[in-house]
Amino acid sequence: MNSSSARSKHRKTKANSNSKAPKTWFFNIKHVLSALLIVFAVWFAQQVYSWHLMRLVITPFDSVKPLAVNYSAYQWGTVKSGYYLGIKSLSPYSISSGLMWFRNEVVENSIPIRHWCSQGDHLQKYTWLQHDFDNFGVQEIVDGNIKLETKVILNEDNGWKVKVSVSHISTTDVKPISLVWYWRTEAENDFVTVHQTNDMNVFYTSGHLLKSGNFSSSVHISKRSNVLYKSRFSSGFSPQHVDLKETVLQNLFWLQTKNEFGDIFALKQNADVISNVVMYQIVAIPPFDFVVNFKMSPDLEKTPSRSEVSDFDSLLKTKQDEFDSKFEDIFHLKEKGYGKDEINFAKAAVSNMIGSIGYFYGSSVVQSKYNEKPVKYGPLQLLTAVPSRSFFPRGFLWDEGFHNLVISKFKPYLSVSIINSWFNLMNVEGWIPREVILGRDSEARVPQEFIVQNNTNGNPPALFIALKNLLDTNILSEKQIEALFPRLQLWFTWFNTSQIGLRESSYRWRGRHAGIDSELNTKTLTSGLDDYPRASHPTDDEYHLDLRCWMAFASKVMAELAEKIRHPSHLMYQENAMHLYDNNLLEELHWSSEFNMFCDVGMHSLNVKLVKTKSSGPQIKPKTQRKVISKPRFGCVPEFGYISLFPFILTILEPTNPKLQSILSNIRNEDLLWTPFGLRSLAKNSIYYRKYNTEVDPPYWRGAVWININFLVLKALKYYGETDGPHRNESVLLYSQLRSNIVNNIYKQYVKTGYIWEQYDDLTGEGKGSHPFTGWSSLVVLIMSEKF
Ligand SMILES: *[C@@H]1O[C@H](CO)[C@@H](O)[C@H](O)[C@H]1NC(C)=O
Ligand SMILES: *[C@@H]1O[C@H](CO)[C@@H](O)[C@H](O)[C@H]1NC(C)=O
Ligand SMILES: *[C@@H]1O[C@H](CO)[C@@H](O)[C@H](O)[C@H]1NC(C)=O
Ligand SMILES: *[C@@H]1O[C@H](CO)[C@@H](O)[C@H](O)[C@H]1NC(C)=O
Ligand SMILES: *[C@@H]1O[C@H](CO)[C@@H](O)[C@H](O)[C@H]1NC(C)=O
Repeated sequence: MNSSSARSKHRKTKANSNSKAPKTWFFNIKHVLSALLIVFAVWFAQQVYSWHLMRLVITPFDSVKPLAVNYSAYQWGTVKSGYYLGIKSLSPYSISSGLMWFRNEVVENSIPIRHWCSQGDHLQKYTWLQHDFDNFGVQEIVDGNIKLETKVILNEDNGWKVKVSVSHISTTDVKPISLVWYWRTEAENDFVTVHQTNDMNVFYTSGHLLKSGNFSSSVHISKRSNVLYKSRFSSGFSPQHVDLKETVLQNLFWLQTKNEFGDIFALKQNADVISNVVMYQIVAIPPFDFVVNFKMSPDLEKTPSRSEVSDFDSLLKTKQDEFDSKFEDIFHLKEKGYGKDEINFAKAAVSNMIGSIGYFYGSSVVQSKYNEKPVKYGPLQLLTAVPSRSFFPRGFLWDEGFHNLVISKFKPYLSVSIINSWFNLMNVEGWIPREVILGRDSEARVPQEFIVQNNTNGNPPALFIALKNLLDTNILSEKQIEALFPRLQLWFTWFNTSQIGLRESSYRWRGRHAGIDSELNTKTLTSGLDDYPRASHPTDDEYHLDLRCWMAFASKVMAELAEKIRHPSHLMYQENAMHLYDNNLLEELHWSSEFNMFCDVGMHSLNVKLVKTKSSGPQIKPKTQRKVISKPRFGCVPEFGYISLFPFILTILEPTNPKLQSILSNIRNEDLLWTPFGLRSLAKNSIYYRKYNTEVDPPYWRGAVWININFLVLKALKYYGETDGPHRNESVLLYSQLRSNIVNNIYKQYVKTGYIWEQYDDLTGEGKGSHPFTGWSSLVVLIMSEKF
């Protein structure tokens, strides 16, 4: 029974399941399928969405591109400005040409070839004495006992000409010098080739650029008798620009000569290859000179004639005279009583700023929170000045605002083009990278950890200072503002949303690292004032004084720009500006009556220090770590210095505001900011004054005198000195004292060292940091001429 019933039960069950099977199966499949479909659709939508998010950071903002005024891809310039001399056109498909030189000697197992500007070369000097970007430039280089002059005539006759003159400073140490002139095509398939000529003192080369046609170029040597050796070399492979020096090194050989000067390093003769690089080496005893003539020309075969170079000096002279008279017309330095040497110094400062303008092309490496790994944004192109040809040979967002104060005085439309070029970098989020590192040429010169640009990070919108200046001087046409305006709006919004603070009407720099005890005070690179002390314990509810002031200033400039083109948004910006300029509200947020100063607000300890930690093994160096001595509390961050001055610096304080009194007397106080060389960045009584941030990270914005902020302080003093109010007379007095302190010291250090510097020591006045630094330190010319 058991078995049959069991069987029947079993059968029944089976029959049951059999009869229902198709339906359930069908039902299940349908369910599973639609579930799968939904899962897939959701997954797919997520993929598309996250792909979209990942792409945001690398998607350019595509409103109508603002006009690149006056400049075309066919314009030639010394725009490989990170090299001692590098000429190309404002295009990625150019041919670049330039100079290398070396003595015939081995130093530390290598031949020190000079190519890209490097502090390690220890040149006594390299400076553009005159440069106007479009037409000509004259540069002086002193390298040990060698003096080189490089004179460039640009955009004449559909090309350029260069005269290189080499001499010895002292005739007691006479040695042969090697000069290498090179041509390198940048686009694939473009080439350059060498021709034989009958004239022994003429070198002739030509080639073809797909995008712009045929070119020819020649080198004419002046003094045949001093020449020991000449060589023409074409590289069989295609070296990158940054690697040209290595290409030379790899192709040098030791050549015995029968002359009194001994042997030389000669470049291989190898002129038959069609290549992207051709080089011409001249080994000679100075003095000698040569002229390189380059032109785009339809006819490849024509040999150059001597007459093409004979008029070089007279042509240059005309341009130099024009430069000199234009310089005086604009800056009135003679009229102001400056002597010849001081005026030449000022000309060098402006010329170096202009001669440092570079054209860059390539992709920026960026990352947003949606990207697991850095991604490439680009290719982009950028026309920009650089802070330092040796140390910072690339674009820096906030520096550029200051650079263009100088450039726009001398070349207003060049400035407009540069500013447009920066705004063309903007992505759809309204973000512009802080450091613009485009292509291998630029990447090769940046420490790895600084390459990736983070789209949550800003930098002071100092371009608004430049824009305000162009607006006030009526340089910007309505058409130009209209073209730029959508980008400006988006940029403003980017700051006004991504850098907003938790407290109403406050702002906060992103990019600070919380909980890192290896630094004395974690840096705020985004603010531009890197290691200037901020709240010692970063939190999301801290807020920063300087950024709020920048935003106030930006709103005001936006309102003025909008008004000029009758854009409806102008009321909104005006309202925004009125809100941020409201002195009561500003004081409510940022004034501390306890410390009698404007300050950042955040979680801050008044006493921290770096201490040595025990080494964990004999081979490991002792490390330092921060020790927090007094407990942090939330409130004013009372580290008096440049940051505390921002409401004054950007003239947000009303001239009648009594707080001005305390600012002015603190500025004049030698125990705080006043020095005979300008205002120091951080007060002497701060525990961070002149302190290392880690054992290997020296103080930067912790005492040294910086020229961009001193410029803004002078601009503010001038404003308060010209505006009615109780502090007018004191402002006038401080203005004239500060102005002469700064000018005197920068000039003195220039005479002493041959350079303008990144910063000046607050105790000795000596130049510090990188050099030449003819970025914003060149503002000294505007200080001399009082063009604020
Ligand atoms: C540059 O462009 C501006 C505006 O279009 C024009 O007024 C100016 O004359 C131009 N300057 C030169 C040097 O071409
Ligand atoms: C370049 O020169 C070659 C040889 O003289 C000639 O055949 C060719 O047409 C030229 N190309 C252009 C674009 O002028
Ligand atoms: C900036 O942001 C604040 C706070 O969200 C907002 O009230 C203000 O309208 C914004 N300003 C502009 C001009 O968009
Ligand atoms: C970018 O910066 C933000 C804010 O400082 C930070 O949270 C984030 O980790 C950074 N991203 C990368 C990839 O460094
Ligand atoms: C400022 O200086 C002017 C001229 O020297 C003088 O007449 C005036 O009284 C001074 N004002 C103040 C507030 O000291």
